[in-house]
Amino acid sequence: MPNKTFSIRTYGCQMNERDSEVLANRLVAHGYRPAEDEKSADIVVVNSCSVRGKAEDKALGKIGLLCAERRDRPGLIVGLMGCMAQRLGPDVFKRVPGLSFSVGTRAAVKIPELLARIQSGEDHLCETAVLDDEESRESLHDSYASPEHLAVLTQPVSAFVTILLGCNRRCAYCIVPDVRGDEHSRHPDEILHEVRELVAAGVRDVTLLGQSVMNYGRRDFQWPAHIPSPMGFTEPLPRLFELIAREVPGLARIRFTSSHPSGVTDELARALREIPTVCPHVHMAMQSGSDRVLKTMRRGYDAAGYLAAVAKLRAAVPDIAITTDVIVGFPGETEADFEDTRRVMDEAGFDNAFIFKYSPRPGTPAAEMEDDVSEAEKARRNQVLLEDQDVRGLAINARFVDTTTEVLAEGPSLRNADRWSGRNPQNKIVVFDPPPDIVPGDLVPIHVVEVHPQTLFGDPTKPPR
Ligand code: SAM
Ligand code: SF4
Ligand code: F3S
Repeated sequence: MPNKTFSIRTYGCQMNERDSEVLANRLVAHGYRPAEDEKSADIVVVNSCSVRGKAEDKALGKIGLLCAERRDRPGLIVGLMGCMAQRLGPDVFKRVPGLSFSVGTRAAVKIPELLARIQSGEDHLCETAVLDDEESRESLHDSYASPEHLAVLTQPVSAFVTILLGCNRRCAYCIVPDVRGDEHSRHPDEILHEVRELVAAGVRDVTLLGQSVMNYGRRDFQWPAHIPSPMGFTEPLPRLFELIAREVPGLARIRFTSSHPSGVTDELARALREIPTVCPHVHMAMQSGSDRVLKTMRRGYDAAGYLAAVAKLRAAVPDIAITTDVIVGFPGETEADFEDTRRVMDEAGFDNAFIFKYSPRPGTPAAEMEDDVSEAEKARRNQVLLEDQDVRGLAINARFVDTTTEVLAEGPSLRNADRWSGRNPQNKIVVFDPPPDIVPGDLVPIHVVEVHPQTLFGDPTKPPR
């Protein structure tokens, strides 16, 4: 079917964004072309998320609409991939009969082959095998094997690189381990190759991805003896940072997400302090500030443990930015639990926080508990935390006023195309008047003149480069 055009619609987290890019590059390698837009595409693939009920509703709504469009667009192929495809298995065809194929989290590598079979008349193809048998493990590693072809990048300056697949933590509310399977670390040589390829394609900033990224390399492999650590690190993640920083000099910034307090070791803190390429930003989900709720969530720490990890990071890197995720309305969360969360968020001094209303996920331990906080109360708690965060974010950002911050220029700002935006090392969005000749990927020193809770505004202090 080569020469046909494709479009990929992505829902969910950064891991899904990267999976979509990897698929796009694989399709290009098989002779397909990216479509100008979804409306003109011959093939539309929806990459889905299952983390909350609403995320699934969005993807189901989208594939429903696309399948309805098949009446007016004969030949249109609609496919589903990602976490919801994995969760629903073949049942998805009962809900969306017009779907041509559905591919789980370990089989994206098979999509070109499925498209060829569809071309020869097959339909309703499903590849959502049981996770963690030998075959699915191989298929998983093949799906991530470094793509040689990086022509299709969603964003030319920054890129995601998945280093740790799956999750072993099994927090009581979370569907991710069920749909992504056990934790597997990718080999450092393979990761290094991918980062080099990305940088050769113009990328200047990579974010290393894993659900508990600090678990990287901790249980499923021995760090290869042929890769030394002149800085004397013994833990795999600091060693990986050091390797990438040393071997890929064109790379301006290394980021990583998501972190868990148990991963905040002395070495990790030292790596943040001593490797200049590693950015002073840690995203570490707190989920709740109540010890009782944290225990029922099975997060493996209490509020004091979480705050100790924050303190260790701040001691090593005083200007570090710390961001978080919080769930409101977990089963049994009382007003007092919620007030604990507000207090601990203040103590932690978060630069930003993503707040989620608890959503029961089928098959998880929390789904057995009564979802006893009403929708209205979840919405209220959500709103209170957002308002708290606005006040906190503004106060924290005030420290940037009248300082110079280095911004990796991305391009015209979404709200005002006359101005440009980019990110500083702390991952704050910075909006500025572009100097002449600026190109995406330039590092520009910006003098900050105004701050909002989530954005800094300023002017270049001198021309870039
Ligand atoms: N592995 C990451 C971590 O633990 O930091 C989180 C990954 S999850 C994809 C992103 C966020 O979604 C979580 O941190 C949590 O706040 C939220 N989340 C996960 N399951 C949820 C659920 N059932 N209801 C509401 N929010 C949920
Ligand atoms: Fe889900 Fe917990 Fe794993 Fe994060 S660490 S993906 S919240 S099970
Ligand atoms: Fe969603 Fe799967 Fe990511 S459930 S948040 S797309 S790992």
